[in-house]
Amino acid sequence: MPNIAVVGTQWGDEGKGKIVDLLAHHFQIIARFQGGHNAGHTVVHDGKTHFLHLIPSGMVRGNLLCVIGNGVVVDPEALLGEIERLRQAGIDVGDNLKISERCQVIFPYHGARDSVSEDAAADKARIGTTRRGIGPTYEGKAARTGIRMVDLLESDLLRELVERNVDRNNRIMACLYPGQAAVLDAKKVFEDYRVMAGKLERYICDTSLYLHQRMVAGESVLFEGAQGTQLDVDHGTFPFVTSSNTVAAGLGSGCGVGPTRINGVLGVIKAYSTRVGAGPFPTEQDNEEGALIRERGGEFGTTTGRPRRCGWFDVVVGRYAVRVNGLDALAVTMLDVLDEFEEIPVCTGYQYKGKLIKEFPSSRQAQAEAEPVWERLPGWKCRTRGISSYAEMPQAARDYLDFIAENLECQVVLASTGPERDSTARLPGTVLDSWLGGN
Ligand code: IMP
Repeated sequence: MPNIAVVGTQWGDEGKGKIVDLLAHHFQIIARFQGGHNAGHTVVHDGKTHFLHLIPSGMVRGNLLCVIGNGVVVDPEALLGEIERLRQAGIDVGDNLKISERCQVIFPYHGARDSVSEDAAADKARIGTTRRGIGPTYEGKAARTGIRMVDLLESDLLRELVERNVDRNNRIMACLYPGQAAVLDAKKVFEDYRVMAGKLERYICDTSLYLHQRMVAGESVLFEGAQGTQLDVDHGTFPFVTSSNTVAAGLGSGCGVGPTRINGVLGVIKAYSTRVGAGPFPTEQDNEEGALIRERGGEFGTTTGRPRRCGWFDVVVGRYAVRVNGLDALAVTMLDVLDEFEEIPVCTGYQYKGKLIKEFPSSRQAQAEAEPVWERLPGWKCRTRGISSYAEMPQAARDYLDFIAENLECQVVLASTGPERDSTARLPGTVLDSWLGGN
C-alpha cells in the first residue's frame, strides 16, 4: 500500500477529518505533521460526533496508530483533555498514540502573547487567530528559544529552560503591553508542566525513526494535514495565515520523512469557499447568499465557534492548491449544501487594475482588491444529501464535479454529501483505485 497525504486546498475546514476517517482503514498509521490545537476536525462515527484538535482523526477508528509529528506544536493540557474526552466516549488512546520528542511545546505565555497581540493590533492588522498560542510557539522555534517534548522529560533542564523563557516573556510583555497580561510564575509553570510531562511520557518517542521502521516493514501511512493551502505561512494569504507549512511538502520536515516516501497527494476542497478569521477572500458573499450557505453548511468553527465567512467556489484558489501541493486527486466536500440553488456562481479569474488574472497573486493589495470574474453553472435543485453512489447523482451535480476537475486539471475521486462516513460517492475509474486496490 502506498503512503498518501490528505491536505486542505482552501482556508481550512474543508472536511479533511471526514475524508481521513473514511480512508483510514486502508492504512496502518495516521500522522499529523503541522499546526496544533488550532485545528478542528469533526468525525461522525457510530452516531457520535467527535471533535478532534490535536490527535489524528484516525484515532476514532480504534485500532490505528496515530502519530503527532515533530512539526506539530503541542499544548500538553489540551492534549491530555482530548485523551480524556476520547476515553469518556469509549475510545482508549492506549498504545495507539505516539508523539514526537521533537514537537515544540505550547506554554501559557504563548497563549497570553497571542491574545494580547491580537487585542493590541489595529483593526486592519488583526489576524483573527484562534488565540491558542500557535504563532508565538512557532516564533520560539525559529528563534531557537522553544522547549520541546523531549526537554519536558529532563527535569533539571526543564526548570532552567522554563525560568529563562518565563523571565524573557514577562519582560517582553511588560515592555510591549504594560499592565495587560498577568506576570507568570516560573515555579508554578515548571511544576504544572513536570506533572503533565509525567502523564504524557509513555507516548513520547522518536516518531521519525518509528515511521521509518514501520514503513520499511511494509506498513502504509496516511499523512493528515491541518488548516489549508491559503493558510500556509509561505504560500497562503500572508500575513493572514497560520504559522506552519500546511502544504503537502510540510509533511517531510514535519514528520522527519523524505519526499521519496510519498506516493500520492489528495486535496480536500469544498464545493464552495469559507474562511474563518481575517484576510483576503475574493469570492466572499457577505450577503443573504453567504448566510444561506452558512446555515445549510453549519459553517461555524469547530475550535472557536466563530461563524465562518462564506462564498462561492474559486477556480483560481483551487488551481493554485493543485500546483503548490502537487495534487493527484480531489475530494469535493459539502456538495449537498448547494442542493437548493437555482444557479451556482463560480469564480474563474480575477480582474485587477484592468487586467484579467488567472493565477493567485502574492501581492497583498491584489489579493484584497481582486474582483472575481463569474460564470454561472446550473444548480440541480434536488436532494443529494446522503447519496453514496455516483450513478445516483443528478446530472447537474456530476457536471459541477466535471467542471471542477476540468478547470483545476485534477481528477475528482470522491464527492461528499453529508457528514456521515457513508454519505460519500466514489467516482469510477480514478487513481483512488490504484491507491486503495479497488476496495
Ligand atoms: P492561528 O493558527 O491560531 O495562529 O490563526 C491564524 C489564522 O488561521 C486565523 O485566521 C485562524 O482563523 C486560521 N485557522 C487556524 N486554524 C484553523 C483551522 O483549523 N481551520 C480554519 N482556520 C484556521
